Amino acid sequence: SGSHTPIPGPVGTFFFGNLYDLFPDPLNNMRKLFKTFSPLMKFSILGNVQIGTDDPAYVELMANESDTFWKRLVGPLAEFKPIGGQGLFTTNGDDPDWLLGHKILMPAFSPKAIKAYSHEMGSLANQLAVIFQTYSDSGEPVLITKWMTNFTFETIGKTGFGYDFGLLDSPNAPVHPFISAMAFCLSESVNRVMQLNVYKKLPLSANYRYERERKLMVGIVDEVVKVRKEQIAQKKEVPKDLLTFMLTEKSSEGVTMSDSLIRDQVLTFLIAGHETTSNTLSWALFELDRNPHVLEACLQEIVNVGISDEVPTDRQITDMVYIERVVKETLRMHAPVRQVGKTARKDTTLPGNYLIPEGTHMHIAVDALHHNPHVFESPEVFDPDRFLPENESKRSVYSWMPFSYGARSCIGRQFAVQEAKVGLAVILRKFKFTTVDPSAVTYDPKNPTTSPVNLWMKVTPQTNL
Ligand code: HEM
Repeated sequence: SGSHTPIPGPVGTFFFGNLYDLFPDPLNNMRKLFKTFSPLMKFSILGNVQIGTDDPAYVELMANESDTFWKRLVGPLAEFKPIGGQGLFTTNGDDPDWLLGHKILMPAFSPKAIKAYSHEMGSLANQLAVIFQTYSDSGEPVLITKWMTNFTFETIGKTGFGYDFGLLDSPNAPVHPFISAMAFCLSESVNRVMQLNVYKKLPLSANYRYERERKLMVGIVDEVVKVRKEQIAQKKEVPKDLLTFMLTEKSSEGVTMSDSLIRDQVLTFLIAGHETTSNTLSWALFELDRNPHVLEACLQEIVNVGISDEVPTDRQITDMVYIERVVKETLRMHAPVRQVGKTARKDTTLPGNYLIPEGTHMHIAVDALHHNPHVFESPEVFDPDRFLPENESKRSVYSWMPFSYGARSCIGRQFAVQEAKVGLAVILRKFKFTTVDPSAVTYDPKNPTTSPVNLWMKVTPQTNL
């Protein structure tokens, strides 16, 4: 309508829209586009029109579930539905299954509840250190993402479901079929974002494989749930973990989760609960190698809080405030989830007199927000002190949103931060990690999370302690 400010954006091409303004490097291209179009930018990918923002004032209006914007399983997000099913991540907020899962699972992720997982996290970090010792002894470089993924996957498997994938048993442990199935399905989901619907139903080999790999994952999860149900029925002692919680808790209205809903939740947690944290740990090691003074401060803290060969205590984890800031700064520079989608619930006028028609797909460009030079000075500099309380209080809360905000924010936020702190403290105390070829390190735009590719590192004993 004529009375509203038009929302600017790059001129696209017929059919593809702005696909090639973004690919093959969506991170840098998005940051660049916002230099011209901030705070709001209209773009389209294969006919899917989106309004993006990299500005905290607009993020604040969109991030929370509200009567103007909400999370809907449309556009790119819808492609994850076949994997996540009715789980927390892939349901609309007004779906009774989302509400039930949210009510039952929130208590299991409270700051107090996640302390129960810290010991397991510490033991697994110690196991990871044993693996790194073999690389340190042999001098062989290590693909760091592989081991961080094994660590975080094992952590959610064990702490969540008492399941041991055996990923930290030996340096030669083969890739678990669940992990390769999941990697395939996730990258296929991203391909599908760029495909027309008819393709997804065609008898193509990728489509067959997608179905086959999906079933493999479901089969493993069904087995885990079945075993636990039998143990509970036989009154055997079972771990007090997420799975037992889901099988025994009722909502305040006395409703329990069905078997198929539990399966969807388990699958959701296995997927949402490891890749993002693994990326965070890998990027943290990369940045610590590039920023020796930050590494130095981490080592000082490890000494100060008294980390030893024992698993870190809850007190020690709480006391590691500097390493927590390192984790936060890593999540700023390398947000694993680089965009969060919301949908306009009704026609809305945003500040600046921009009309957003009902149904518009909003695109919170998390990575571009975190690299917006008006929000973070010299955004390319890795500086954990940005997260000192006195510096944080100078910014809008909505300047930093790796975990999103509101009802649909990350339920695993504290879990992830605790896991990253424990993992870093244990391995940094023992080893120094040096990137073999920093210029080769990149990311795969087809991976829905931003993870480092080619991050080979040399592991040597940490002699500065
Ligand atoms: C949701 C990021 C770790 C489980 C989300 C969302 C983000 C996010 C951005 C919102 C997605 C959206 O709006 O569509 C991250 C990051 C992590 C992390 C950056 C690590 C550094 C974890 C962990 C778990 C987990 C460890 C589980 C143990 C979930 C679930 C949801 C979610 C279940 C959906 C919540 C709901 O909508 O009710 N996460 N996450 N995440 N995350 Fe995480």
